Amino acid sequence: MADRKAQLTIDGLDAPVELPIYSGTTGPDVIDVRGLIDHGYFTYDPGFVSTASCESEITYIDGANGVLLHRGFPIEQLATHSNHTEMSYLLLNGEIPDKEAYETFRNSVSRHTMVHEQIVNFFKGFRRDAHPMAVLCGVAGALSAFYHDNLDITQEHDRQVSAIRLIAKMPTLAAMCYKYNIGQPFAYPRNDLDYAENFLYMMFSNPCEEYEINPVAAKAMDRIFMLHADHEQNASTSTVRLAGSTGANPFACISAGIAALWGPAHGGANEAVLNMLAEIGDESEENIQHFVDRAKDKQDAFRLMGFGHRVYRNFDPRARVMKETCDEVLEELGMGDDPQLKIAKRLEQIALEDDYFIERKLYPNVDFYSGIILRALGIPKNMFTVIFAVARTTGWISHWNEMITNGTRIGRPRQLYKGYTQRDYPDQQ
Ligand code: SDX
Repeated sequence: MADRKAQLTIDGLDAPVELPIYSGTTGPDVIDVRGLIDHGYFTYDPGFVSTASCESEITYIDGANGVLLHRGFPIEQLATHSNHTEMSYLLLNGEIPDKEAYETFRNSVSRHTMVHEQIVNFFKGFRRDAHPMAVLCGVAGALSAFYHDNLDITQEHDRQVSAIRLIAKMPTLAAMCYKYNIGQPFAYPRNDLDYAENFLYMMFSNPCEEYEINPVAAKAMDRIFMLHADHEQNASTSTVRLAGSTGANPFACISAGIAALWGPAHGGANEAVLNMLAEIGDESEENIQHFVDRAKDKQDAFRLMGFGHRVYRNFDPRARVMKETCDEVLEELGMGDDPQLKIAKRLEQIALEDDYFIERKLYPNVDFYSGIILRALGIPKNMFTVIFAVARTTGWISHWNEMITNGTRIGRPRQLYKGYTQRDYPDQQ
């Protein structure tokens, strides 16, 4: 229901156009521009800077104040008190589960971790040196060819089964991407282990020796999964929603999300941060300053990766938690003197005191420190974005489910056309 109305005066129209204004539970009000088309106008918002594409109850971000809430709960509280499995339930179903609901959900997720044995054949079609994100896009999409039994997306039960399958199978596929890349046999999931423990087990165990899970590593991994689990209508989630709006099956939609996540401006930034830290190389003051100066130079393509955000004009709250986690993990693993961590911290400090970054409100984002943690856990750089995709699967599928539950029209943006007007085909003799 419209609480208020906006009036838009347009040269050439007899009367102002009335546009309803709606209020959410918090955050900016929105002007409903759907009626503009009746007057012959589109809105123009490349990059969707000021456009609310949907209604949602899942995640709220207050970018000016650095606040992130999932179903109302602050990310800092969730990161401290929850775990990835509980958070997945919360994102998907709206509430923190009681003990019984948690156990039921946990059991369902752990009973769906295995993938169909023929999926191994898909891996074999890829070059071993392919980027694991390329492989993940393919094999995640291929899941739709294996799980036809619960693909009636109009049925809530089928949507839940698909959601659980995706949350459960993504770590398995991700670890398989790694094992295939390094030429080791795939490790089957172990359902007695927690989500993060099982992922580390599938990544690092081999048939020749006992693998002991380091609890520090498992806790850090779970926290990384939690901090990346959802982030409102970001590029990859919007991609999943757009694909889903056509009625496409959820496995195909998630595969589209993985593709969108891969870019260095989005989920690919965690890998790009470590490449950047390696490029910076030495921790001398002049050298770090030199790279900060390059990031400010419009003629230079170099940018501070892991810095800046479309929505946050303040600290990304996830970055604070990530930095604390980074300090704890490296200390506990005896890597407190890590040279790349030192470079990252000094880089952050210099940038935060520099007018260029202050004026543009550019702060470290979730991925400025995540790569340093992942590297300390022994995870290679090319797997960082894959891990982001595993974590974000929960958010993607929760948004997809919300959209289908609420009913949606196909997503179909329009354009400001700047090409030729009609012309005749040339008379070629
Ligand atoms: C994620 O949307 C989400 O929620 C994403 C995410 C999630 O959880 O889903 O949070 C995850 O994608 C994090 C972002 C990871 N990307 C990076 O770390 C890459 C580096 N950052 C950027 O390229 C950039 O800041 C973006 C892509 C994150 C945001 O892009 P915007 O909103 O389009 O901002 P912009 O590029 O228009 O920048 C505004 C100004 C520009 O300067 P002016 O032209 O105004 O002079 O700030 C400058 C930019 O050049 N700028 C930077 C910079 N980021 C922006 N300058 C130097 N280094 C940077 N990193």
